Amino acid sequence: MKKTIEKKDWKEATKLAQIGNHTDKQTGAVSTPIYLSTTYAHPELGQSTGFDYTRTANPTRQVLETALAELEQGRYGFATSSGMSAIQLVFELFPCNSHFLVSRDLYGGSYRYFHSLEENGQYQFTYFNSIAELHAAISLDIAAVFIETPTNPLMSELSITEVSELTKANHTLLIVDNTFLTPILQKPLRLGADLVVHSATKFLGGHNDLLAGAVMTNSDKLGERLAFALNTTGAVLSPFDSWLLIRGLKTLSLRIRQQEKNAQTLVQFLRQTPLIKEVFYPEKGSMISLKLQNATQIPAFLKALNIFTFAESLGGVESLVTYPSTQTHADIPKELRESYGLTDDLLRLSIGIEAIEDLIQDLKQALIKSAD
Ligand SMILES: Cc1ncc(COP(=O)(O)O)c(C=O)c1O
Repeated sequence: MKKTIEKKDWKEATKLAQIGNHTDKQTGAVSTPIYLSTTYAHPELGQSTGFDYTRTANPTRQVLETALAELEQGRYGFATSSGMSAIQLVFELFPCNSHFLVSRDLYGGSYRYFHSLEENGQYQFTYFNSIAELHAAISLDIAAVFIETPTNPLMSELSITEVSELTKANHTLLIVDNTFLTPILQKPLRLGADLVVHSATKFLGGHNDLLAGAVMTNSDKLGERLAFALNTTGAVLSPFDSWLLIRGLKTLSLRIRQQEKNAQTLVQFLRQTPLIKEVFYPEKGSMISLKLQNATQIPAFLKALNIFTFAESLGGVESLVTYPSTQTHADIPKELRESYGLTDDLLRLSIGIEAIEDLIQDLKQALIKSAD
């Protein structure tokens, strides 16, 4: 007789679909119950059920956090109220005057946060454009390196392995924002990162109906300090939103594969279209940026789209188009943005799970109308 497959040996898709199942022994609930209680009775003085107060731990959030940790192959996972609060939580770990190196092209909200920390005199940030620039800037005085790969919105890639060799040699930490690829396509902790952050609002949630963040690590020391910081500052994910994120995660691998397949077909179409000047695609995932022949076409192009929605955000089942210059990256000064290629003719597409024929047709007719 064949041996039973142990849970730790399940394939990723099985682990995802099974999140929370078999955890509620009392009722056998297949869908994780939403524990709204903020406080928990102590059996006796000095005793605890493991849950005392919901900021510290909540049963629904705990199911989610266990799944998040496992998904990134980490030992610790934390679910926060947004992607920005996940990033803020990580920066709670460092003392005043710490100096960070950050990849130049990055989400405008992260840039805004780093800029405000610097303005407040708390930390110092230096930005790099390439691994060579990182090489030149890194030293034992650097507290951590923060990267997005691929970057938002120019899709440039950095090798996490290569960056982590540099950070390890300099006794500094590597933080990776893995929002764009998700652990289905890239597992930074396995490649040498110390901390992974996510805007779970995006692919992890997957349905444009939830604001959430996540932090994962393998280090006991960092895990304990993050738990302390999260309990102290309190930007935890609510029980209902934890449940919504569990539900979203169950279909993560299916969605990512379908979105990536759609994106790869669309990229082939876009690269053959003369009305498009340049296509930015890292050959994996479902985020595509493009430059139209002329920035003046953009208003008509956006107006003519019927399926793609002109909106901020990404990663959901519905295809979106974003104009970074006035939306996600508006807080980066124009001159600075343009110096590294984020110009006013750039649009960013997040490809959903719709039928690919419809997506191509929608882009095709909008491109034609925009050129009229
Ligand atoms: C790469 C990246 N990181 C972090 C964030 C911030 O996440 P949230 O909007 O959930 O706070 C975003 C949001 O767009 C993002 O794109």
